[in-house]
Amino acid sequence: MILGGIRVALFPDSIKTVNPNSSSTDHFKPREDRDLVYPQPVIYYKTERMDLLTVAMLSVACFVLYRIISFTVKLLKVVLLCEYPPNADELPSLPFVGHAYLLVGGTEVILKRILELGKIYPTSFRFLFGNNSVYITTSPQHIKEILLSPKTIEKNYFYEFGRPWMGDGLITAPASIWEVHRKLLQPSFNPVALKSYVKTFATQSVIMTKRMDQQLDGPEFEIYKYIFLNSLDTICATAMGINLEAQVNEECQYDEAIRKVMAGFTERAVSPWLYPDFVFYRTPLGKDLMKQVNYLHELTDSVIRQKKAEIVRRGDQRVSADEERDADAGPQILIENLFRLSDDNKTLTDKEVRDHVDTMIVAGSDTTAITMNYVLLMLASHQDIQEKVYQELCDIFGEHVLNDDSEELHITMDVLARMAYMERVIKETMRLFVVGPVTFRKTTEDLDLGGHTVPRGSSVMVNVMGVHRSEKYWPDALKFDPDRFSPERFAKQEPYSYLPFSGGRRNCLGAKYAMMFMKTMTATVLRKYVLTKDKVVPVEDVRLKLDFLLKSVHPDTVRIKRRAKQHAS
Ligand code: HEM
Repeated sequence: MILGGIRVALFPDSIKTVNPNSSSTDHFKPREDRDLVYPQPVIYYKTERMDLLTVAMLSVACFVLYRIISFTVKLLKVVLLCEYPPNADELPSLPFVGHAYLLVGGTEVILKRILELGKIYPTSFRFLFGNNSVYITTSPQHIKEILLSPKTIEKNYFYEFGRPWMGDGLITAPASIWEVHRKLLQPSFNPVALKSYVKTFATQSVIMTKRMDQQLDGPEFEIYKYIFLNSLDTICATAMGINLEAQVNEECQYDEAIRKVMAGFTERAVSPWLYPDFVFYRTPLGKDLMKQVNYLHELTDSVIRQKKAEIVRRGDQRVSADEERDADAGPQILIENLFRLSDDNKTLTDKEVRDHVDTMIVAGSDTTAITMNYVLLMLASHQDIQEKVYQELCDIFGEHVLNDDSEELHITMDVLARMAYMERVIKETMRLFVVGPVTFRKTTEDLDLGGHTVPRGSSVMVNVMGVHRSEKYWPDALKFDPDRFSPERFAKQEPYSYLPFSGGRRNCLGAKYAMMFMKTMTATVLRKYVLTKDKVVPVEDVRLKLDFLLKSVHPDTVRIKRRAKQHAS
């Protein structure tokens, strides 16, 4: 090493060899040669000692400085998202927080980072969330391994936050309970049960459009709140058999409570200091969340009491989940099916029934409403596609679709199955705006992921939105193109590159219910209105956030005008 014209070798047996005129290889020469060349060893020895200390200190300083600079450069590269080497080990981590500093900045930043990291590390990488490792994957092959593995049936600790409300409902249940209860609940979503819900979908959707009439020919308005209240009324009618009337009752406390609870979950998930229960439930946020949860539980409990009394009054007239019933007899109400299970098999307690009903409301209301929000936004933004969907409705319903706008459409399972183009539109919307951008699991044994071991007890995160928006699997990924879902094109699609309802054994139980309901809503809206946007916002400019589920940063708005009455060709 050369310092100020003095050469110093950092090898133990050549430490004292210093000569400004010597060549760079002097210190490797035999000792005798050096003694001959340098006859004043004592003086040189002192100088060498001092220099060595300085050198050592300077070396340490240089090393530290180098680490700081390289860390800062890497950090800036990640934060500013320039090119970044695709090696996850190089993702700078900080003591105590790990990589969590990347998520600072709110729910919009979190979603953005997840998508960007998915691009930088297109397979799987380890993300340090404080002291916890989360293995994040954006690879369909790895996702398949995760979702199909019996080692990842368990959900990770984030889901614990939902347990005060949803208890042992399917979303939050530990694997041992989930295994049994999933089988028990499955019949409530079989074709016979689904058929019985169709009338409720149509009735509630007409109430929604009647309320939307107040926006006719006006400026753009926020569509989500109309859709959400429809979803809530519909899910409460089919899960609990009650008419909540959130759509007609402006000040619905139930709706308010659900919003507050969901906002509380999100805030806790992004604030690691609120993770311990003994901290969270002492904060104003935690206390208010429990207040709202208690209110929601009271409502479900009172419905349980009421329904039980009804069942006793009705005696043995209950219909089993797979028995056909008259269309006018109303929906097969989930809660009643669950009572039958608890009576017949003594499997479910009242608390478990409540957990399942509450879970269905959480799982089914906001998810459907958010998706529908984007379906209507996409239709308003793509007039040609809206026209095609409308023409399909004309083909199915004939003149009836056009002329009878105050009444329900005659929706049947067969009619819903014929809405093939509309289904592509909904699927493409769910690709671009997937309600659950990420899902988590926990490994209960070591898991091999693409040749690397994910240790037992780790969290695994599936970056669903990262895959859905990846150019690798979806060329021209941000283009809204429903024909990606034509049977011919979709057959060529990489398996596990499309997961709006998750996949594997813990996939969405209500996927068919949701699709039927969304088709009914879309048909009811489009038969009556033409949707438009004053200024179309390209998909890439719709600002999104991860707020428990996917949400828009700014409310999405559309304009509606009455569809001109005309006769189908
Ligand atoms: C567009 C609407 C919907 C979407 C996008 C959706 C999506 C999902 C996703 C991604 C999961 C997996 C969650 C996870 O692993 O963390 C899930 C689970 C679930 N969903 Fe849905 N869902 C929708 C509508 C519904 C509806 C309407 C219901 C019921 C009426 C429902 C009931 C459930 C249930 C019970 C689970 C838990 C399944 C289990 O763990 O066994 N979902 N859903």
